[in-house]
Amino acid sequence: MGSLTVLLQLTLLVSFAILIFQANGQGLKVGFYPYKWPNLEPVIKDVIYKVISEDRTLAPPLQRMHFHDCFIRGCEGSFLLESPTKQAEKDAFPNLTLRGFQILDKVKLAVEKACSGDVSSADIMGPFWEVETGRKDGKVSILNEALTGLIPPSANISTLKKGFADRGLNMKDLVVLSGSHTIGISHCSSFSNRLYNFTGKNDADPTLDSEYAAKLKQKCKPGDQNSIVEMDPGSFKTFDVSYFTLVAKRRGLFESDAALLNDGETKAYLKFQALNKGPTFFKDFGESMVKMGRIGVITGEGGEIRKVCTKVN
Ligand code: HEM
Ligand SMILES: *[C@@H]1O[C@H](CO)[C@@H](O)[C@H](O)[C@H]1NC(C)=O
Ligand SMILES: *[C@@H]1O[C@H](CO)[C@@H](O)[C@H](O)[C@H]1NC(C)=O
Ligand SMILES: *[C@@H]1O[C@H](CO)[C@@H](O)[C@H](O)[C@H]1NC(C)=O
Repeated sequence: MGSLTVLLQLTLLVSFAILIFQANGQGLKVGFYPYKWPNLEPVIKDVIYKVISEDRTLAPPLQRMHFHDCFIRGCEGSFLLESPTKQAEKDAFPNLTLRGFQILDKVKLAVEKACSGDVSSADIMGPFWEVETGRKDGKVSILNEALTGLIPPSANISTLKKGFADRGLNMKDLVVLSGSHTIGISHCSSFSNRLYNFTGKNDADPTLDSEYAAKLKQKCKPGDQNSIVEMDPGSFKTFDVSYFTLVAKRRGLFESDAALLNDGETKAYLKFQALNKGPTFFKDFGESMVKMGRIGVITGEGGEIRKVCTKVN
């Protein structure tokens, strides 16, 4: 797996998703746009390929944005809304670490050229793992909902399971989607509490492998909020199962990653993924991504088709 890039892996996932999910979801139609505008999918893919081949590091943030959008008010693009008084979802703290907004505007621009403004921003979020389109954009975006709605990296297993269950996702989805952390980067601020004075005895988190903790301390000195580390050291650009093997060895970066070992079911499933090395993961990931993409989808009067990704009409 080591030599394949994120781009290739994500492309693989799309073909998996397209192969496996021909069925219709509530009010959503697979291939809705491709029927009406056969050129839309290639247009989106072209832009994303171009953007990502210019800067590989933009693939992970795109995936993460989709997650954040879906967990707050459902997958309706409210995440992209701007507020003049800085009170929208994107103004909330978790967003401070999100990259890649400019990609979506590029995609939107290209798509509008291709089919004159009839595509919602929410659809633009997930071109790589599903082709379920036809959804509308939300009109509401509230900062406080992003703070309370997003699961923090310090979450324990009960909080994680509940957060996913509240959105119709099960323990398998939780483990598989956490596998996203096989790519990308994190700021020290997201996990440095685990390195220093974790229990008040000037110690590190006892559930974190001590050798790994020592390495992380070299990158994140006390009080350092801004330095970045690879989430999956050694293969952070590759979409593979190494996340699961590392977490099983107590080398998950966040408490939320480590927590997957604190429940019989999630632990067993994590080990299963670690041992199976690949095909099951890609298939399962595609399935869970499609499930996540269905959270709170707006298809009727409640939404609109936004002309500019960041503003309600
Ligand atoms: C299970 C609960 C989850 C928690 C607590 C969580 C938390 C985090 C945190 C704290 C970061 C690092 C942010 C930073 O410091 O820059 C991160 C990065 C990331 N997350 Fe998650 N996450 C979760 C689930 C997910 C899911 C479901 C996905 C996608 C399906 C995802 C995709 C990503 C990606 C791709 C990155 C790397 C972003 C980059 O390189 O800029 N995460 N996550
Ligand atoms: C949220 O992200 C966007 C895009 O990077 C940025 O313009 C905005 O200022 C961010 N919000 C805050 C509060 O920094
Ligand atoms: C998990 O975290 C939540 C929220 O912080 C807390 O209320 C709960 O008691 C914790 N559960 C366990 C088993 O530690
Ligand atoms: C570590 O935590 C304990 C208990 O919260 C606190 O009394 C102590 O001052 C902390 N030490 C440092 C170096 O921050």
